[in-house]
Amino acid sequence: MATTVTPTTLGTAVPRVEGREKVTGQAVYAYEHDMEGVAYAWIVQATIARGAVREVDATLALGLPGVLAVLWHDNAPDLGEVEDGELAVLQSPRVAYRGQIVAIVVAESLEVARDAAAIVDVAYDAEPHDVELRDDHPKLYTPPKVNPNFETDTQEGDPEAALAAAPVVVDRTYTTPAEHNNPLEPHATLAVWRDGGVTLYDSTQGAPRARDTIAGVLGLEPDQVRVISPHVGGGFGSKGTPRPTAIAAALAARHVDRPVKLTATRQQMFAFVGYRTPTIQRMRLGASSDGQLLALVHEVAEQTSTVREFAEQTAVPSRMMYASATRRTAHRLAALDVPTPSWMRAPGETPGMYALECAMDELAAEVGLDPIELRVRNEPDIDPETGLEFSSRNLVACLREGAARFGWDARDPAPGTRRDGEWLVGMGVAASTYPARRAPSSAFARAQADGTFVVGIGAADIGTGARTVLTQIAADALEVPPERVRVEIGDSALPFAMLAGGSMGTTSWGSAIVRAIEALRERLAEHGGEVPADGLEAQADTSEEVKAQEKYARHGFGAQFCEARVNAGTGEVRIARMLGVFACGRILNPLTARSQFIGGMTQGISMALHEESVLDLEFGDYLNHDFAQYHVPVFGDIEDIDATWIEEDDPHLNPMGAKGIGEIGIVGTAAAVANAVHHATGMRVRDLPIRLDRVLGLLGR
Ligand code: MOS
Repeated sequence: MATTVTPTTLGTAVPRVEGREKVTGQAVYAYEHDMEGVAYAWIVQATIARGAVREVDATLALGLPGVLAVLWHDNAPDLGEVEDGELAVLQSPRVAYRGQIVAIVVAESLEVARDAAAIVDVAYDAEPHDVELRDDHPKLYTPPKVNPNFETDTQEGDPEAALAAAPVVVDRTYTTPAEHNNPLEPHATLAVWRDGGVTLYDSTQGAPRARDTIAGVLGLEPDQVRVISPHVGGGFGSKGTPRPTAIAAALAARHVDRPVKLTATRQQMFAFVGYRTPTIQRMRLGASSDGQLLALVHEVAEQTSTVREFAEQTAVPSRMMYASATRRTAHRLAALDVPTPSWMRAPGETPGMYALECAMDELAAEVGLDPIELRVRNEPDIDPETGLEFSSRNLVACLREGAARFGWDARDPAPGTRRDGEWLVGMGVAASTYPARRAPSSAFARAQADGTFVVGIGAADIGTGARTVLTQIAADALEVPPERVRVEIGDSALPFAMLAGGSMGTTSWGSAIVRAIEALRERLAEHGGEVPADGLEAQADTSEEVKAQEKYARHGFGAQFCEARVNAGTGEVRIARMLGVFACGRILNPLTARSQFIGGMTQGISMALHEESVLDLEFGDYLNHDFAQYHVPVFGDIEDIDATWIEEDDPHLNPMGAKGIGEIGIVGTAAAVANAVHHATGMRVRDLPIRLDRVLGLLGR
């Protein structure tokens, strides 16, 4: 590594640089951008799960005053070949899932568009649908890769033989339901065509990549498309790739030759913006009587749609988490008549570590070992599958530190023994991990004659505090106070950069910013430190640096501790206390980092207890389409929650010495909750979420 940044503002709790803008309502989100002559689009969704649109009768809708157009597959512009079936909006009469876009209404006002959409008469030729994932589904196949590019199956040694010979075997199946990402700000776009090109004010996790994808779909050159997204109200993966909403807005705007605004409604967020696949996971652990793993087999069944393949990498964390003499991981996928699943906060790790960390808890009970000691005993020296050294791995430190802070010593290992009136009380622990990667990015840095600096990068702040942390990184690299630095992000016209995903925004963007500033400082030195009247600028691209970096297994680690109270009469589960201890390199901003960790853990509690998209077999759709029925925690559900971290000095990462922290908080949390519920009750709910009826069923009520 050429240089490392000397932290001055890094590591300090700098509040969000755009905080005032946000709390005063000045920050402009996609749907809030205004444009002269704007029209409003509204989506009409398929009411069958499989078949074809036979006919669209828009007569009534077009008769409403203020309606400008109704588009469907017959009159929509022909996009030619579109690789991503989800983005081939109105290109065919085929219906691949219930809720798919079959028509778009454009009107003078949002209200008229909505009313007109309700009276567009769509006739279908329905076909029988197949929407239910089962682990014996005849359509299960082996996808070529799993997200984003991992081997589908791996095997080391002969795990079946090892399991047959193992003194202790845990063989359990865990399931997780479909879960729908619901950022506060739904997917929204304002599309404006000018001179044959289009500008999209869009809610996206990555403007430059969105631009490239959208240009491809619309048959334009990338420089004919611009994506602008200064503020984004959450994404959790669902805004990592462009959504049909953006294409729909672009098509509608071209059709009516006016700027067009379009947003998904909350209800529509349950259809075409991605979601986490349901999983059925069989986990087999074989161990010696003292808890040494002899075999680890993690086999997953999950779903995709018929329009695009998305294979969640659920078993991938089982490849690097623990030392085991033998191992097998496998993914099978069924392409069903459902919307396409996609990224949702820590895809792979989140459902996969739920199964692995529950199974480890079950194994600990089987061998009569403390769950922390079992994990310590199976700590690998090197990445078990790749054989690479870990750049740093402080899982054990997280477990030990958490145990001390949480009062783990006071835990009676026997489950179902602590009672406080009608409440059964238990403590659980689980480990977490997430890759610490970065991706090629580029940035510019400019010195201005007034002594301030501007840094530009096609990054995104989706609510994480990225803009703030990048300002800190730039300030330290420039050795100036952060007040003298302005960071420009959220625009595809800025230098190409990694999207805000895979917990690699800060590490990827920060690297490019540091390199651009190094180049700028060289230029400044050439000018004797004087900034010319029209400023000085330098660019950098980290493609070579990222490619050339030494091979290490780079991962963040953590441990979540949970105290659960289970009502013996009602089955209600309350999370009395939760603590996460993380080892993620250098923490660049304790304020925003803590918010990421706690946010992730809150989503993990949500996964454990609340979130469940319930499939309706007759209609072939998830039927809970709003927050009245799709449950997420409210403040009253999150009581005492805290996050802390281990100082980690890892020179093999990036100039900041940081590991990404956006996703590790959710990983492991659901298992910690499930393990605590087991410890409280002596009963194990293996199917998420841990609903009252499931708890009561096990308690025999
Ligand atoms: Mo995250 S699910 O990689 O946006």
